[in-house]
Amino acid sequence: PALNEMLNLFDFEAVASQVSTAEAWAYYNSAADDEITHRENHNAFHRIWFRPRVMRDVTHVDMSTKILGHYSSFPLYITATALGKLGHPEGEVVLTRAAYSHKIIQMVPTLASCSMDEIANVCGKGQVLFFQLYANQNKDITRRVIQTAEAKGCKALFITVDAPQLGRREKDMRMKYVNAPPDIQDEKELNRNQGAARAISSFIDSGLNWNDLEWFRSVTSMPIVLKGIQTLEDAVLAVKYGCDGIVLSNHGGRQLDFARSGIEILPEVVEGLKKKGLLNKVEIYVDGGIRRGTDIIKAIALGAKAVGIGRPLLYAMSSYGQAGVERALQLLKDEVAICMRLLGANTLADISPDMVDIKNLATH
Ligand code: FNR
Repeated sequence: PALNEMLNLFDFEAVASQVSTAEAWAYYNSAADDEITHRENHNAFHRIWFRPRVMRDVTHVDMSTKILGHYSSFPLYITATALGKLGHPEGEVVLTRAAYSHKIIQMVPTLASCSMDEIANVCGKGQVLFFQLYANQNKDITRRVIQTAEAKGCKALFITVDAPQLGRREKDMRMKYVNAPPDIQDEKELNRNQGAARAISSFIDSGLNWNDLEWFRSVTSMPIVLKGIQTLEDAVLAVKYGCDGIVLSNHGGRQLDFARSGIEILPEVVEGLKKKGLLNKVEIYVDGGIRRGTDIIKAIALGAKAVGIGRPLLYAMSSYGQAGVERALQLLKDEVAICMRLLGANTLADISPDMVDIKNLATH
């Protein structure tokens, strides 16, 4: 179908399921075990209802925000997803260009198919990148990776903490992995028989622990955000260890099946941190299952600073390239603007917790 027939993010998924290679679809779409958490990530939003306010001049809406102090045209960033070249011959730079045209931030993955150089080189003036880190068992490599990202201009370090061991993504495991990214092609342990994820992740340090934060601080001056926090307890620890932000995330359901969705954890974390007087110490982000403007606004209402989005942009990129990613982002922006008007909010600051009804959110 023509690009202008894509009216929402699910439309891109449907097209991608038809046009992607079997490897790309298996890697992008897959999630752990029975994929219960993957489905729940979006379904949880169905249990949040709005309490719109009326009669508030909504002629003008401003959905811009700042993420760690950096401008974003709306409260969404492109989260890290590995192996962009599985979906598009040019890989992550497609997302980089689309992010620039929409003035949003892209988080560059450790396992990008493009090098940090290639990505930095296509950046527009003033464009902001964050960097996602998979800590290597070899600290010298980890240090080099972090320092390269910082030298290339990345403005924050998102350390992935929910993947000390890879989840079983069975769709992906059934595939033979063929397209290793350049920097890991020589890895001895590269296992070509158990899917893309397993093939590229054997270096990840399962020994990562809270005491390592001091070391991370010593090797970078970028703000540090932990990606994959799933309880209030760990949110409190993240603050205690001086992190600048946390992403409530279960890795798109690709790690621990039956992990709760980020949006469901958000009220627990916000209320808990507030009670302890720690809420102003960190920015809180949510990812997983964001598919609609209403999903974004629900997260904002419950206290998120911004949300991350993964698969839908990979699907848009795989089906229509940069123009597809730009349209997907525009559709989301339009949905956010409509939602704000119908809620009675002119700015993100006007979106308050009493605009959502969450009494059915936690169902267990
Ligand atoms: C991911 N995710 C991820 N996270 C991370 O920290 N490092 C990584 O390399 C990857 N790679 C990756 C690949 C693919 C194909 C997907 C779908 C996801 C997780 C990602 O950052 C994010 O947490 C989820 O994708 C968010 O959920 P949605 O938006 O995909 O539903």
